[in-house]
Order: sequence, then structure tokens, then C-alpha cells
Amino acid sequence: MQKTKTTESWSSRLGVILAVAGSAVGLGNFLRFPGQAAKYGGDDGGGAFMVAYFISLLIIGIPICWAEWTMGRYGGQRGYNSSPGIFHAILGKPYAKYIGVIGVIIPVIIYMYYVYIEAWCLGYAINFLTGNLSFGNNVDAYGDFWGAFIGITENGSAIGFSLNQVGFYLILVFIFNFILIYRGLSKGIEWFCKFAMPLLVFLAIIIAVRVLTLGAPLADQPDQNIMNGLAYMWNPGNLIQNLKNPELWLAAAGQIFFSLSVGFGVIIVYASYLNKKDDVVLSGLSATSANEFCEVALGGMITIPAAYMFLGAAGIVGQGTFALGFKVLPLVFANMPAGVVFGSIFFILLFLAAVTSSLSMLQPGIAFLEESTGMNRKQSVSVLGLITGLGCLFVVWFSKDIKALDTIDFWIGTFALFVLATIQIIIFGWVLGIEKGWKEMHEGAEIRVPNFYKIIIKYICPLFLLVIFAMWVMTNVFGYNLQTGEVQLTGYVLDLVGDSDHPASAAARLSVALIVIVIGFMCAIAAQAGKRWKQQETEDEEVSI
Ligand code: ALA
Repeated sequence: MQKTKTTESWSSRLGVILAVAGSAVGLGNFLRFPGQAAKYGGDDGGGAFMVAYFISLLIIGIPICWAEWTMGRYGGQRGYNSSPGIFHAILGKPYAKYIGVIGVIIPVIIYMYYVYIEAWCLGYAINFLTGNLSFGNNVDAYGDFWGAFIGITENGSAIGFSLNQVGFYLILVFIFNFILIYRGLSKGIEWFCKFAMPLLVFLAIIIAVRVLTLGAPLADQPDQNIMNGLAYMWNPGNLIQNLKNPELWLAAAGQIFFSLSVGFGVIIVYASYLNKKDDVVLSGLSATSANEFCEVALGGMITIPAAYMFLGAAGIVGQGTFALGFKVLPLVFANMPAGVVFGSIFFILLFLAAVTSSLSMLQPGIAFLEESTGMNRKQSVSVLGLITGLGCLFVVWFSKDIKALDTIDFWIGTFALFVLATIQIIIFGWVLGIEKGWKEMHEGAEIRVPNFYKIIIKYICPLFLLVIFAMWVMTNVFGYNLQTGEVQLTGYVLDLVGDSDHPASAAARLSVALIVIVIGFMCAIAAQAGKRWKQQETEDEEVSI
């Protein structure tokens, strides 16, 4: 007998696909992806990054996505909508709910900093519209504006209420997200995604067409043209040689996770609201394809070519993800014909993309609070609002060098994603079992997955992930230089432990403390939930006898 089924559900198939695509399409597509591609771009191998990216999509992105859709629907049929509940249903072991807790803390904690960047996007759209972001060719002025806007020089300096400080926008976007999530799955998330997704694609197409038709906008720089801008990203250079660089693979795999919202604990929760006979194979593939269209065909056609045409390769190289989006692009827009309009449109589209993703990060926490404590939606929304509100205040307060954001993004937005994705694919292929999983996946499926994907899901994907993850920990945590063999702890670890050259950072330590507190809180709730679910299952069994 199963636990009482939730009353929430999606209202249409298109709605759920758009909601999952909305979760996937976000800042990752329009900011993070161009940032990664730029890092590996140039004559030397942007195309190699793209090869690693597409291979990662095929052997880890799509399989884990199918696994999440399938396990989510499976858990939902047994009455569970939260990640701890779904793992409890699949594994039936006392530790299962704690594995599931990873799928709660990831979205809840990422939300705390994601919404901060979302507020930058809204702020930039308004500042473009009001003409506050027109500094002509003055490169430094754009950097100074951004720094002051987000409070990069001093902790606490972003918490102000002028139009060019993030605090004001943050309150707006925070409230906006919570109003939508309070309205529920179909009236809030689905309703918003149905309108925001087509709109943001339309806006992105306008910007992409504008960029692709710029030709060579600077008369004295004929080489800085659209073709060379695209070549910067796609030229494979010495492909084989470039593909031997492990960091390129780490970056490509990390981008796939972040972009598809795979290993986030989101898809599994969204899929739990499906019916037994609802298709997951084609729906999963459709949402993934929509994300890839937005990422490669739109995100990839805007930032890098635009920056290249106005600033050349030198303007792209060495720029981090945020610098490209918030320092370089505003300059590019300000210098193109009708730049105020195009700049505003670009940041509005970023904002819409961010909201559809941040909303998806709230539902896992809501589902968990509701089904583990019996709270109603109002109560769970209030509790989650309090937790994420405090966390967000923390991130915004420790704005100096965006230390809190950066630290939490590293440990949760990258490290934890690898962990959850790996655990999920192992559970699907080995614990649930590939044959049972395969059968479950094809219930109600509108297309069949080719059989060789069984081998990919069971062997290749976990192996690839374990190798990538081990390399990632070696290089990004322990600072092992894959070329020279030297070891030097990375900044993220030194921020916590410190050494003579690199003192520990209080903001980084407090960020990790915040993560630990959230984990502790969620585990305590999960422990209670375990007892509650057991009792409920026993009662249900008695009734059925
Ligand atoms: N998948 C979301 C993004 O790309 C989180 O921003």
C-alpha cells in the first residue's frame, strides 16, 4: 500500500516539459556556457571544448536525465515527491533518506546565491532602460559599475536601496519567486514557464539575429567580424592534442550538469508529479533538446561573437563568467546601434531564464517540508522563505570579492552536483537494476531508447563520472597539476585551512558553516520523516489487510 498521494499535479504534458526546460535554461546557458567556451576558445581549441561538451551530453547528461525522470515518476507512484522520500521508496533502507537529503540541500543552497545573480539581471535591465549603463568605450566604468552594484569591494555595501545597488532588486525577485511558488505547481511554476519560456526564446532570437548581422562593426578592425567571432568558439585547433587536456573534460562535464539541472535534485521532484503512464523518455529528450538549443544555438551565438567583434580576442581571454556577462557585454551593447534597447532585452531575457530556474530550486524544499512534517503549503513556503532568506542575506552581506557566492558555488554548485549525479546513476543502473529501470523508463514511453544505452547507463556513464570526479577532486581540491605532478592546495581549500601565503578567509569558513548547518537541519527533518513514513506505511498495510 502506498502513502497518500499528493493533490498537486501538472496540468499538461507541454507544461511539464516547459517547466523542466525552464529549470534547465538559465544563467548557465547565457552566462556560464559562454564563459566556459571562452576559456577554452581561440585558435587553440574552442571546438575541442564543444566536442567534449557534446560527448558529455550524450554519455552523462541525457542518461542521468532519463534516470531522474524515471526514478521521480517511480517515487511519485508510491506517494513520494521529495528526493528523500523517492530514495526511501526505491531503496527501502534507513540510510536512503539521507542520500535523498543531498537532493534537497543542493537546490535550496544554490537558490541562496542564484537569486542574487538573478537580481543583478533585473537591475541591469532597469539600468539599461534608464540609460545608467552608457559609458561609451570606457571599459573601466563598466567594471566599476558592476563592482559597486554587487558590493564587490566591501562586505555589506550591496545592501542599499538605490537603483544601482542590488539590494532593492533582490527583495523584488525574492518576493516574486515566493509568490509564484506559493501558487503551486501548475498555477505557479507551470503557468509562469508556459509564458516565460517562449518569450525568452523570442527575445534571445532577436539578440542573436542582431549579433549575427553586425558584420564587422568597427571600421578600423575588419578582422573582428562575425565569422572570426564564431570561429573563436568553434575552431577545433589541434583537436586530438586539445582533447588530451583533462581540465577541458572536467569543465565540459560540469557545464552539462549545471546547464541541464542534472544532479540538482530538481528533475526527480518534477517527475514525481507525473502519472504512471506519462511518457518520460520523449519528454526528457524534449526538455534536454530545448536546453541545448538555448545554450548552443542562442547562448553561444550571442556573448562570444559579440564580445569578439567589439573587443577582439584580447577582450575575451581571461574574463571570468560574470565579467563577460556584466562587464564586457554592457560595453558591447552600449556601442551597438540601438544598444539601449538590445541591452535591456538581453538582461530581461536573462532575468526570465533565471526565474524559471530559481523557481525549480524551491519546489524540492517545499515538497520535502510538506511530506516530512505534514506542514501545509503556506507553512512550508514560510519556513523555506525564512531559510533561503537568511542564506541569501548571508551571501549578499559577504559580497567582498563575491567570496560567499564563489565558495558555495564551488562546494555545492559543482562538487555536490558530481556526487549526486554519480549516486543517482549508480542507484538506477545497479541498485534498482538496469533491466527494471529500463522497463520502468519505457512505461508509457513514446519512443524507445536504443539498446546500447543500457551499456552506457550501466557501465560507461558511472565509470566516466567516477574518473572525471576523481580528477576533479585531484585538480580542483588538492591542486594536483596533471602536467607537472606538483601538488598545491587550491584557493578553495586554502580559504578554509590557510597557510603562510594564503590566510584562511572568514567569509569562506562561514559559508561552509552555513552549508553544514543546512545539511544538519535537513538531516534532522529527514530522521523524523523516516519515522513518520514508516508509521504511515504500517497503517496503510493494516488497512489493506
Ligand atoms: N540549469 C540552470 C542554469 O543553467 C540552473 O542556470
